Amino acid sequence: MADRPYTLLSCGMSIDGYLDSTDTTRLRLSNADDFDRVDAERARCDAILVGAATVRNDNPRLLVRSEARRAERVARGLPASPAKVTLTRRGDLPPTAAFFTAGDSDKIVYCPGPAADDVRARLGDVATVVDTGSAGRVDVACVMEHLSARGIDRVMVEGGGTVLTQFLTADLVDELHLVVAPLFVGDSRAPRLVGDGPFPWNASRRATLAGVRQIGDVVLLRYALSDRFCAEHAAGEE
Ligand SMILES: NC(=O)c1ccc[n+]([C@@H]2O[C@H](COP(=O)([O-])OP(=O)(O)OC[C@H]3O[C@@H](n4cnc5c(N)ncnc54)[C@H](OP(=O)(O)O)[C@@H]3O)[C@@H](O)[C@H]2O)c1
Repeated sequence: MADRPYTLLSCGMSIDGYLDSTDTTRLRLSNADDFDRVDAERARCDAILVGAATVRNDNPRLLVRSEARRAERVARGLPASPAKVTLTRRGDLPPTAAFFTAGDSDKIVYCPGPAADDVRARLGDVATVVDTGSAGRVDVACVMEHLSARGIDRVMVEGGGTVLTQFLTADLVDELHLVVAPLFVGDSRAPRLVGDGPFPWNASRRATLAGVRQIGDVVLLRYALSDRFCAEHAAGEE
């Protein structure tokens, strides 16, 4: 396999496995201390990747919030926040979304051929639009190879479920940080953590639980999903 960035998948879910409710306002699953932990993880990454539905529904800024962490990145010659990456097939993304307007790091949109010209006409001033050529879904493995070729070594994938499912089933994740919030959503119309698919970890190949930490009223579960996790931690990089 060609080089791909080290990939951390980070998300929160309810006790019953939902990423959000069906309300128009985003469900707050985490707490202040956990948001700060996520901020620290963001600050260690070169890029943050989310699906287009998350850009549309949540309008996230995807910036490093801590002034000290931003300053530390700048002192290392990096942009204050990581690059932002999204995937879209339909290309229905407004240039006014905070994804594009917040921060001065690179914004990259991966889009298959049929929609790419329209997307470039609409978003070309606020993002780099990469035409992935083929019709249908963008191949997430190709996205990671492309990001690696751009010098991006560490990517944090933050959701939503459609994107998480693709990265996990394609075996592209080195490390999973899963936060469980102390609440139920109880509505099967809400987005689940993942959809159906051939996940590499199953009854005959269990994932490796690398850590459990209580953070206030939530719990963080860390899973090692590749040998690269062990190599990174053996090298004492965390
Ligand atoms: N709890 C958490 O940690 C967390 C984190 C993030 C998001 N969320 C929640 O997750 C929900 C959204 O999840 P979701 O599963 O509906 O959507 P999503 O994964 O955010 O985005 C799905 C969209 O991304 C685009 N896309 C995904 N894979 C693609 C591919 N391979 N090629 C081309 N385009 C691709 C498509 O966009 P187009 O439709 O534009 O073609 C698709 O409709 C929101 O409610 C959000 O609040 C929760």
